[in-house]
Amino acid sequence: MPPRTALVTGAGRAAGLGFAVARRLAELDHHVVLTARDPAAVEPLAERLRQEGHAATALRLDLSDRASIDEVADHLTRTFDQLDVLINNASAMPDFRTLSALDADMDTVRSAMDVSVIGPWALTQAVLPLLTAAPAARIVNVSSLAAQQIATGFDLGAPLRSPAYSMAKYTLNALTEVLARALADTPILVNAVDPGNTATHPERDDPEDRPASESAEDITRAATLSPTGPTGQLFSREHPVL
Ligand SMILES: NC(=O)c1ccc[n+]([C@@H]2O[C@H](COP(=O)([O-])OP(=O)(O)OC[C@H]3O[C@@H](n4cnc5c(N)ncnc54)[C@H](OP(=O)(O)O)[C@@H]3O)[C@@H](O)[C@H]2O)c1
Repeated sequence: MPPRTALVTGAGRAAGLGFAVARRLAELDHHVVLTARDPAAVEPLAERLRQEGHAATALRLDLSDRASIDEVADHLTRTFDQLDVLINNASAMPDFRTLSALDADMDTVRSAMDVSVIGPWALTQAVLPLLTAAPAARIVNVSSLAAQQIATGFDLGAPLRSPAYSMAKYTLNALTEVLARALADTPILVNAVDPGNTATHPERDDPEDRPASESAEDITRAATLSPTGPTGQLFSREHPVL
């Protein structure tokens, strides 16, 4: 049987969730491909996993650049027979300080949609032949509580801010459902996971935040679902969100 392979986007920060997921999948015997916009940032992280005895490769990927997506797909096609796991983890919050949609800058909105929706969608299409070649591939889209705030209309304990980021994550949840339906007659399962507030930015983390390893476990669970597992589902802390 060929080795299982996993591609993780936005895995270029040692403290980030992407690297924590990559490490967990490597521990579960996947050859992990870590991607980030800056190859100089991601290569040492792949090397760290290799030093720990895992199989890991670093690649440059900018989700707002179609050519970069195609280059990654070409590289994977030349290197591997199949792709078992795609983790769409990368995200941009370019409107961190924007409190109202009425103040939103449209270039900022476009860039949030590029990284969280259009990029992952294009990447999924580009690697689909490899996903289809795997016996039971899994796609996991990393979502956010911000999306659920829009979906439910509830406050959920936090003010609705960063409207571009929130809407991009809401649309990513919709993309999860759309792709799951499109792939319904295949063994590929597509799900989304809201990791919850997670300690990934040491300079601004809250003591209440979950450790990245804990949130990574939730994402890994969705990436290793059994053939009878759900598809088109959003999970938060192990539980399906209705
Ligand atoms: N941390 C939390 O509390 C929390 C809560 C809810 C949801 N989430 C979600 O969990 C995921 C991981 O979050 P995080 O806090 O670990 O990291 P993050 O800093 O929010 O984002 C992950 C990575 O996305 C990458 N990225 C940005 N623009 C990109 C582009 N154009 N192309 C490719 N990659 C790009 C960045 O990598 P480079 O700049 O190195 O390329 C960044 O390291 C994100 O989807 C986030 O929205 C996090």
